[in-house]
Amino acid sequence: MVSTLSQSSASQPKIVITGASGFLGAHLCRSFASEFDVVAVSHLATLPESLAPYRVRMDLQDQAMVEAMLNNMAPVGVIHAAALSDPNTCQTRPEMSMSLNVEVTRNLAASCAHRGIRFLFTSTDLVFDGSGGNYSEADPVNPINTYGEHKALAEDLIREVHPESTIARLPWMFGAGLLKPSAFQGWVDQLNRGGSLTAFDDEYRSAVSYRVAAEGIAHLFHHVQGETLHLGGIETTTRYHLLNQLATFLKQPSELVQAQSQSEVIMPAKRPKDTSLDSRKARTLGYKTPFLTDMIQQTVSALSDIRQG
Ligand SMILES: NC(=O)c1ccc[n+]([C@@H]2O[C@H](COP(=O)([O-])OP(=O)(O)OC[C@H]3O[C@@H](n4cnc5c(N)ncnc54)[C@H](OP(=O)(O)O)[C@@H]3O)[C@@H](O)[C@H]2O)c1
Repeated sequence: MVSTLSQSSASQPKIVITGASGFLGAHLCRSFASEFDVVAVSHLATLPESLAPYRVRMDLQDQAMVEAMLNNMAPVGVIHAAALSDPNTCQTRPEMSMSLNVEVTRNLAASCAHRGIRFLFTSTDLVFDGSGGNYSEADPVNPINTYGEHKALAEDLIREVHPESTIARLPWMFGAGLLKPSAFQGWVDQLNRGGSLTAFDDEYRSAVSYRVAAEGIAHLFHHVQGETLHLGGIETTTRYHLLNQLATFLKQPSELVQAQSQSEVIMPAKRPKDTSLDSRKARTLGYKTPFLTDMIQQTVSALSDIRQG
C-alpha cells in the first residue's frame, strides 16, 4: 500500500472512494469533496494531488491491506467504484472478474458492516437480460453475460452481509475522462477532423454522463440506505443516436455517423438489447438528470477546460 497525504485546511468526515482513477471514480472524488475529505483509492494509477487530500494505491484483493487502510483512515463510509468493468474482459477472464467484482465487493461490504459504516456499490443495468426494457428496481435480474452475473451476485452478497448498503445500478455512461482519455474524447476529435464513426443503433440504454451519475450518487448518499436504486437518464438512447446528437452539436454532417447492428459484431460477451431503466425512485429522491443534449454540451465544454489545463 502506498499512501500519500496532503492535509486539507478544514477537517471534514472522511469517505473512501475506490476506483478513484477510473472514469466514474474521478468524478465521484470531485462530487464528494464539498462535504467530505476524500480518501481516493487507486490500484495501478498514481493519483494527482489535486484529486483528493488522501490518496492510497493498493490492491483491493489484499484484504489485510483493506483492513489496515480502513483502520487508518476511519471513514464514515465507502463508495465502491473499483471493478473489472469491461464485459468482454470479464467473459474471457471470469476468475479475475469473480475476484474483483464479487469477492472484493463482498469483503469490503462485510468490513463496512463490521465497523458500522456505510457502503455504496456501483452496479449496472447489465444485470437485466434486455428483453423488456424500462426496468424498475422491482424487476427480477437475469444477466446474460459474466459481468452482469457477477454484479448481480455481488448485489446479493452485499444484501446478506450489509443490508443497510445502497446499490446504485448505473446505465451506460459517457463523458470527459478527468485522469485518462475517454471514448467520448476520441469521438469529438474524430468528428472534428471530418472522420466517420460507426455505432450500434439497436442497443437501447438510459445513458448519463459520468458527472451526472457522480453528482447523483453524492446527493443520494445522504438520503438513502438499504435500497437499490436505478440511476438512468430520462431518455432512452442508442450509441448511434448519441453520436448523431454530438455531430450536430459540433456542426459536423450527421452522415459521418454510420449505424451498425449488434448482430454485425462478434464479441466475447453477449450484449442485452434494451436495458433502459425506470429511474423514477431515484428522481423522487432528488436525482437530477438533464436531457442528453445538455449532457453532451456540458461534456464538450468540460473537455475543452481539461485541454486548456
Ligand atoms: N462505464 C460504464 O459505462 C458503466 C456502466 C454501468 C456500471 N458501471 C460501473 O461503474 C463503476 C465504475 O466504472 P468505470 O467505467 O468508471 O471503471 P474504470 O474506468 O474501468 O475503472 C476501474 C477502476 O477500478 C480500479 N481497480 C481495478 N482493479 C483493482 C484492484 N485490484 N484494486 C484496486 N482498484 C482496482 C482501477 O484502478 P487503476 O486504474 O488505478 O488500476 C480503476 O480505478 C464500476 O463498478 C462499473 O462496473 C460502469
